[in-house]
Amino acid sequence: METQKVKDAFNQGSDKYDNYRKQAIPLMDEFYQTAIDLTKKYNNPKILDLGAGTGILTELLSKQHPESEITLIDMSHEMLEKARKKFENKSLFNYIEANYLTYNFPEQYDIIISSLSIHHLTDDEKQDLYEKIYNHLLDGGIFINADQVRGATDKTEQLYKEKDESHLQAQDMPESEKEILHNRRKLDKPATLSDTIEWYKEIGYVNVDVFFKYYRYFVISGQK
Ligand SMILES: C[S@@+](CC[C@H](N)C(=O)[O-])C[C@H]1O[C@@H](n2cnc3c(N)ncnc32)[C@H](O)[C@@H]1O
Repeated sequence: METQKVKDAFNQGSDKYDNYRKQAIPLMDEFYQTAIDLTKKYNNPKILDLGAGTGILTELLSKQHPESEITLIDMSHEMLEKARKKFENKSLFNYIEANYLTYNFPEQYDIIISSLSIHHLTDDEKQDLYEKIYNHLLDGGIFINADQVRGATDKTEQLYKEKDESHLQAQDMPESEKEILHNRRKLDKPATLSDTIEWYKEIGYVNVDVFFKYYRYFVISGQK
């Protein structure tokens, strides 16, 4: 039910999705670039982009790794269609329209990466997904997640919410687009950073560390 709501929200918002990302995400360039920088030590890696959407992160990945085979998975047909159009000249891209929680990935990857997608899952689903990702990494492979966390306490979550709100209000964008973002944010279920790190370690990830953090936006990685 919740999954369907997330899918519907992205299907409906896909047309204008790319137009207002910079306004929606504080320090967006640094946020995405941190995730890309973490991939730089891999030579021609096989990459899986979870919740790739319209391909904003995928495009940066492809610039960094032009010879790489990149698989994009997303459950929103409309979002993935935008990516397909954007990358129609890219022969090394594969597209999977599916829920990454239930899809059986037939392969393993050097890099599994995701941006702004996993916080839509419940905490139990996140843990299942983190374990599934671990099992689909090649030895030495890396999982990179650029996403959102919940505040460590109710008080700090409140500060994050106030920051989300003041940031959005300061942006030059149509009120209707702010409303769309507002409504979509009601579907968010971010976990705390400390829980996330603990789950990674329990699963067996090593070199777990956080490379970017600005209010609720963070980039974390762990290796197999
Ligand atoms: C905010 S968008 C992020 C898209 C892209 N990664 C970016 O950085 O712009 C979140 C995407 O995750 C997808 N998504 C959320 N939960 C998913 C799931 N369980 N399986 C597949 N895709 C999912 C949504 O359909 C949506 O396209």
